[in-house]
Amino acid sequence: MTLAEVRSRFLTFYKARGHVEIPSAPIRPDNDPTTLFTSSGMQPLVPYLLGEEHPAGTRLADAQTCFRGQDIEEVGDNRHTTFFEMLGNWSLGDYFKTEQLPWVFEFLTSKEEGLGLNPENIYVTVFSGDESTGVGPDKEAVAIWQKLFADKGIDAKFSSIGTEEAGYEKGMQGSRIFGYNTKNWWSRAGAPGNMPAGEPGGPDSEIFYDFGLPHDTSWGPECHPNCDCGRFVEIGNSVFMQYKKEEDGSFSLLPKKNVDFGGGLERLVATTQGDPDVFLIDVFDQAREVLKAKTGRAYGDSEEDLRAWRIILDHTRAAFFMLASDIRPSNTEAGYILRRLIRRAIREVDRLGIKDPVLVEIAHGFAQLYKQQYPWVMDNLSQIEEGLAAEEKKFRNTLSTGLKEFEKIASKKDISGEDAFILFSSFGFPFELTQELAKERGLDLIESDFKTAMEAHQSQSRAGAGQKFAGGLADHAEQTVRYHTTHHILLKALQIVLGEEVLQRGSNITAERLRIDFASPGKMTDEQKAEVERIVNEVIYQDVPVVRSVMPREEAEKLGAQMEFGVKYPDTVSVYSVGPTGATVEDPRIPEAFSLEFCGGPHVANTSEIHAGGTQFKILKEEAVAAGIRRIKAVLA
Ligand code: ALA
Repeated sequence: MTLAEVRSRFLTFYKARGHVEIPSAPIRPDNDPTTLFTSSGMQPLVPYLLGEEHPAGTRLADAQTCFRGQDIEEVGDNRHTTFFEMLGNWSLGDYFKTEQLPWVFEFLTSKEEGLGLNPENIYVTVFSGDESTGVGPDKEAVAIWQKLFADKGIDAKFSSIGTEEAGYEKGMQGSRIFGYNTKNWWSRAGAPGNMPAGEPGGPDSEIFYDFGLPHDTSWGPECHPNCDCGRFVEIGNSVFMQYKKEEDGSFSLLPKKNVDFGGGLERLVATTQGDPDVFLIDVFDQAREVLKAKTGRAYGDSEEDLRAWRIILDHTRAAFFMLASDIRPSNTEAGYILRRLIRRAIREVDRLGIKDPVLVEIAHGFAQLYKQQYPWVMDNLSQIEEGLAAEEKKFRNTLSTGLKEFEKIASKKDISGEDAFILFSSFGFPFELTQELAKERGLDLIESDFKTAMEAHQSQSRAGAGQKFAGGLADHAEQTVRYHTTHHILLKALQIVLGEEVLQRGSNITAERLRIDFASPGKMTDEQKAEVERIVNEVIYQDVPVVRSVMPREEAEKLGAQMEFGVKYPDTVSVYSVGPTGATVEDPRIPEAFSLEFCGGPHVANTSEIHAGGTQFKILKEEAVAAGIRRIKAVLA
């Protein structure tokens, strides 16, 4: 079956049983500051599970777009994705176990109304009780399941197979219903002990599909539903959401007994195809074709490449949905996760040897596929595609120079915090990427070493260079240094907006503001000021490295580095570049720069230091100070 067919069968099935279909909430929750993304179907329904009345009634069903960032590193096997759709049905104080379990079993097994799965391949788990909650084993669920299986001629043996700590040592023992303790307790925070006060949760009953693959003993001596060897895949979960955690750690009963069912749509589609690989389902057909056309190889041709293919398929789809939900790549919160997804996808595209841009084409295919169920994905498609193209181009350049440098270091030794810092500050390589590359090679890299190296460089660059070229700098406090780098970016932005002939005629920088005097004939318009502000902020928020190089004056002149009018420079000069956009110019130490200036520093190592905390660059005043000389006062606020 196709994904659209499974989704529509589910919704029709529950509508026939009195449920009202509700639309998917946004992937970025509207009114929930506690979390960046919607990661399960129940999340938008929390107020109603806690007792508020839902306007659509007490029986609800939907397909919810979800993103689980914590799974990002798991992507690469045949079943984990960061983005997925969760099919859900809810009872808000309406029906409970005796309706829920038979219905879900019927949906899975009915050929007419459901998915027509063979009940022989279905295994279930239930809550075996846990001291921390005071909630006992779910005998009622065991009895319901035994009857349901018996009706299909299956003798469903129950075994409580113990705790995770004990390694589930008893294994399968020919059972069909398995009792686990905290594994079968569901809340957004996981086990009862992790739940914050006010959080709803409850015992659950998970459903697994047995794909009949041989057990891989590297995961443990015996297989069981929660074993990770890949034989069993979880396809649905009925949570009996009856409890709320209290301030004192105890559990109280919610005003009403609720059911929260969630089923991973992609996995359900995979079961209808009898192959556990979710990347083989129809929604990825077009993306697989694009990669095939670019590589000349088909999905699965090489075991080695499978992980790369899967990361590209998953991350591009997740990035597409985030962009469609108005999230834009940035360096904080949701925007940062989006940027990370795009960068990881590009890394794998590059690994497959694809040199042309590819993400936009794949995203375009997703738009066509999802527009019927989620018409809003078409609302700003061109903006999505442009955003993706720009991010891909930028990171491709960073990647190719950074990877070469990484290879040089990794071929000789372990990667130190200092190396990671150089990759970050000189090549724009995000720390996570260096960390992932190091992990792939089995090399150690400690995050705190990276931070220490970064701090050491910052204080060094402040204490050295400053004396000689202090110029307009009033002091070297951190904020002043930030203003200094911003000053360089501003000069370039003025040249972009007003013309290359704009030259700096003076500067004055304190910890409170910056001032630049420049030669330009007339007053700036409001539009020009706004455009300059936009460019400066864009560069700052691109997290670009700021690199110092020492070189002969002539060479710096040849590179087109900006000089200050009237200053005599020595034969050997220090040049700061705010870049890179990737490709190197003649001096390999200087990446192709946004701005290049004769300067002794000090500067930030990376523009990310300027905008920490969400700072924006703003022009306060633009005025004449002499004939043909204008002055700008600006702040970071
Ligand atoms: N809320 C439950 C889950 O995400 C259904 O598994």
